[in-house]
Amino acid sequence: MNPAPNLILVGPMGAGKTSIGRRLAERFGLEFADVDQVVVERCGATINTIFEHVGEAGFREREKAALAHVLAEEGKMVSTGGGAVLDCDNRSLMQRRGFVVYLRVGVEAQLKRLGRDRSRPLLRRGDREQVLRDLTAVREPFYMEVADLMLDTDGLSPGGATSTLAQLLASQWQRSERAA
Ligand code: S3P
Repeated sequence: MNPAPNLILVGPMGAGKTSIGRRLAERFGLEFADVDQVVVERCGATINTIFEHVGEAGFREREKAALAHVLAEEGKMVSTGGGAVLDCDNRSLMQRRGFVVYLRVGVEAQLKRLGRDRSRPLLRRGDREQVLRDLTAVREPFYMEVADLMLDTDGLSPGGATSTLAQLLASQWQRSERAA
């Protein structure tokens, strides 16, 4: 049993962090928070617009502040953006404040799930498949570093992944108060 005050999902775009996060929140009676959504609400602008105006670095600053804001609380089911693990402060905060689940997905499944999505600025540049492969190469070690548990979502529906995760979490995660 691994005690932590929050549950946190990390993983690449298209891993199902938001849809699985919402379902898990319901199952465990947690309040759902999507860090991307918090950034959008705080800035009053879409992620694409934020990238256009302040670049990726500006987005990462806002993402970091939003993550810290959300994880200051307890009893949350937190979905993070695919790049949140790039920052070492974010990684140590997640490990201190949550039980972290890495939702893995292969590039082929990502391409299918993301379809023609236009809401993610990193996918608007060049060859999508190559972009996704490059992002995976850089980020996978960080997902592995922060994770308490990993689930491969290839071939799983959001409902199926949620049921599997709920079972694993029941035996591995214990909700706790105040882990500083
Ligand atoms: C990003 C992933 C997106 C969002 C932004 C950048 C990334 O979130 O934070 O477009 O760097 O991988 P999702 O992983 O929820 O798509």
